[in-house]
Amino acid sequence: METVQLDFLGDLRRTHSCGQLRAADEGKRALLMGWVHRRRDLGGVLFVHLRDRDGVTQLVIRAEAGEEVHRKAEMLGSEYVIAVEGTVIKRSTETINAALDTGEVELAVENLWILNESRTPPFPMEGTVDVKEDSRLKYRYVDLRRPHMQRNIILRSRVSFAVREFLHSQGFLEIETPFMTRSTPEGARDYLVPSRVQPGSFYALPQSPQIFKQLLMVSGYEKYFQIVRCFRDEDLRADRQPEFTQIDLEMSFPQQERVYEVVEPMLQRVFKSAGIDVETPFPRLTFAEAMRSYGSDKPDLRLPPFHVLDGQSWQLGLTFPPVAIHIPKTGALSGSQRKELKDAGLERGLRVYDDLKKLDPQLVEQARSATGAGDDDLLIIAGWAGPPKGQRPEETFYQACGQLRLFAGQKYNDRHQLLDPTVFKLLWVVDFPMFEWDEEEKRWNAAHHPFTSVHDEDLEKLTTDPAYCRAKSYDIVLNGTELGSGSIRIHRRDVQAKVFAALGFTDDEAKRRFGFLLEALEYGAPPHGGIALGLDRLVMLLAGETSIREVIPFPKTARGTDLMCDAPSSVPERQLKELGLRLISGQKSDG
Ligand code: AMO
Repeated sequence: METVQLDFLGDLRRTHSCGQLRAADEGKRALLMGWVHRRRDLGGVLFVHLRDRDGVTQLVIRAEAGEEVHRKAEMLGSEYVIAVEGTVIKRSTETINAALDTGEVELAVENLWILNESRTPPFPMEGTVDVKEDSRLKYRYVDLRRPHMQRNIILRSRVSFAVREFLHSQGFLEIETPFMTRSTPEGARDYLVPSRVQPGSFYALPQSPQIFKQLLMVSGYEKYFQIVRCFRDEDLRADRQPEFTQIDLEMSFPQQERVYEVVEPMLQRVFKSAGIDVETPFPRLTFAEAMRSYGSDKPDLRLPPFHVLDGQSWQLGLTFPPVAIHIPKTGALSGSQRKELKDAGLERGLRVYDDLKKLDPQLVEQARSATGAGDDDLLIIAGWAGPPKGQRPEETFYQACGQLRLFAGQKYNDRHQLLDPTVFKLLWVVDFPMFEWDEEEKRWNAAHHPFTSVHDEDLEKLTTDPAYCRAKSYDIVLNGTELGSGSIRIHRRDVQAKVFAALGFTDDEAKRRFGFLLEALEYGAPPHGGIALGLDRLVMLLAGETSIREVIPFPKTARGTDLMCDAPSSVPERQLKELGLRLISGQKSDG
């Protein structure tokens, strides 16, 4: 085979992108550059789909283009990088390609330069061929070239821009905070960075800029934001990465409502940039209401709520009043589906009554009128048969019901697409409990983080009734995913001390971990509060994806590995020594 002679870019300059030419450009000269997406040879006439990030244009190379151009065109392989110059011609009606924005025209090539060749790509560049994710991640630079990934990454950029533009217009300042810092309070494990000049000492990568943004409020910047990378060493899932990006903001003198007044129009603007209209204000549910109606602090409002059948526990011999779960338009379930549903309930500690004919008609009537369930719908009654469990036992029961509701919604409503990914249901969940019980450690943890304010009227309950102490905290939820989380902070030193005490921190411990923040609160800290939204999750949902890896250019696998550059990796002994580190036996260094 003839070797390909590569051409120089020289002073060639693009006149158009590959997504730009239209019928109105007929007769114009154009110079395009891009990648060979596809090549077909129809008896001496060559057709090439040329692709850049903007789209695809069809090139046609006929005999008139001359022998040299033709010869070069025949050498083109998939993903070769070329420049072409020619004249825009209109296609005949029968050959118009409605699937391309540029489908009404093609470029009759007169000059062709091959700027680079390519090895055969590890997987096809288009279509829905099921490519193993490992291969996509190893050759991420190729994967990112695929139109589907380019759409996601371009969407991500548009979302970031919409956020920046909006927050700047509202007087927020974009301020950077350090990556090499001390442990922050978000509750996951830290990634540590050893110090060479102070052997035995470590920086921690921030789990969020929480403390720094609070300090910026103490410093009088009033409105801060940052689109910022955060690092958390935690178990990974489809919506979690060890490094991820937050839209982080903080403001001085706000009530919770002031924060919503920023976030709602910001998200409205973001959705608009993705071509989606959402209405404000977003609905609000207290944590207690969300639990009692959805059994979740991140309810998916695309499915109807469940209903607690008050006064009906006595009938069935249950610990709490039972719950009526309603999934519209499932049709009648088969015998095996009913068994599956019962088993799913049982696994979660629930007794499921699916045969309503066997129940007292008065109970069934209450369930029907509460839910409005019709004949074609699934209506079940679920009860908690075991002893109370957990610090807020009714919550444990509602959570199980919430899981069963989602299970049934996903399993039996498929045909009707209640969980349609193009429907966007946003809401605020507010007034979270201040504390969560840690069964292992037998102590209370901060449900949000230890700098969150308690409701003014619950301040007294900090020591007497921590389980029912409400925080001034709020989550923004989209289709069952927690998109963001925030709170009004504690700005008084005395209150912060009380909360630390309720969390079981000794004074010394509090001083050691967050002493500088405590001290800062003594230097005129204004009331302040804010929120952080997960940018990756937001873009994932806007793009209709189910994993954040699809919207992160270079993500890690579930084991935290970067398959392309093979990180994490071992390091030479010399490097460890410089850092004053030695590995314990069984773990390897790079010799
Ligand atoms: P929180 O820890 O709830 O709050 O995080 C805020 C949002 O960040 C996103 N998020 C993640 N996204 C991907 N991978 C992860 N591992 C990951 N962890 C969190 C979520 C989440 O809602 N400092 C507080 C915010 C504040 O109080 O202002 C904080 O970080 O979308």
